[in-house]
Amino acid sequence: MSERKRLFTGLQPSGALHIGNYFGTVKPFLLMYESYESFLCAVDYHALTTIKDPKELEKNTFNIVAAYLASGVDPEKAVIFKQSDVSEHTELAWILECQVTVPFLMQAHSYKDKTAQGIEPSAGLFNYPMLMASDILLYDAEVVPVGEDQRQHIEYTREAAGKFNNLYGETFKLPKEHISKDVGVVPGTDGRKMSKSYKNTIPLFGSKDEIASAVMSIVTDSTGERPENVFAIHKLFKPESELTALYKENKNKYKELKEALIEDIETVLTPMRERRDSITETEVKSVLETGGKVAKEIASKKMAEVREKIGAN
Ligand code: ADP
Ligand code: TRP
Repeated sequence: MSERKRLFTGLQPSGALHIGNYFGTVKPFLLMYESYESFLCAVDYHALTTIKDPKELEKNTFNIVAAYLASGVDPEKAVIFKQSDVSEHTELAWILECQVTVPFLMQAHSYKDKTAQGIEPSAGLFNYPMLMASDILLYDAEVVPVGEDQRQHIEYTREAAGKFNNLYGETFKLPKEHISKDVGVVPGTDGRKMSKSYKNTIPLFGSKDEIASAVMSIVTDSTGERPENVFAIHKLFKPESELTALYKENKNKYKELKEALIEDIETVLTPMRERRDSITETEVKSVLETGGKVAKEIASKKMAEVREKIGAN
């Protein structure tokens, strides 16, 4: 077996990726995944908590895998697979659900946020953290790169694993979240966190026109030295040292600054977009098939151990 630690991350196929996702999740993953034995899982059963249209779920799953490939993830160096291809994930989820209590799951932010918005929660949404715990624990993953919003889910994973280990003996490794500090929150065109639910995004694989129109809609504030919302996005695409002079020279010329930003975004995204356009359904299918086989083998061994321990051999 490989000496390297295992890394696992899950990607929800719940919609088109934006540059907030890219700088918050995709790029940090790219910088670290080759140092580990890495697993990248399209968590389509998690997305089922929000997406009920089969065509949409299928399309989103293809898109998210294609996005990672286009961004530069090498399928030879990571196990890329689909959650629903490895039935052990839902099987283990049930067993973990039997270890934790209803009041514990009721404290999950994801659940509390949705119910606070008046959404009637499905039992799936309620149990979401235990399906996520299964994703991670089946592979003995020790490192889990996620956004800040997922910190609690990793705590929940450790809690469930710890309870199982205490009761049945050492079985699961306790994973640790890896939250990239330097990226922080990418602001959207209205200055709030960029998020598909706020409709303030700059699409990662949009056409030049779509990107231009999103950039032109960035809200500017004329009171400061420079348009901070434009600058905050710009510095993701060009070093700050180069931008300082540009913003000084173009003080109060918001249109020119936004045009410069559009050009700089294009320079970075064009090659990725071209790669994205060349990825076929056959290619994604083949990557998922290969990855699914590797994942299944590992997961089924772990499940055999779990079944043995609980008395369901
Ligand atoms: P959205 O808020 O658009 O629904 P998701 O919740 O699907 O995005 O995001 C998936 C991951 O992408 C998050 O866990 C987070 O790590 C990252 N992410 C999303 N939006 C941003 C942002 N504005 N800045 C930095 N990272 C982000
Ligand atoms: N809940 C995560 C999100 O919304 C997605 C996810 C599912 C995940 N399973 C995971 C992330 C396992 C890391 C590890 O972003």
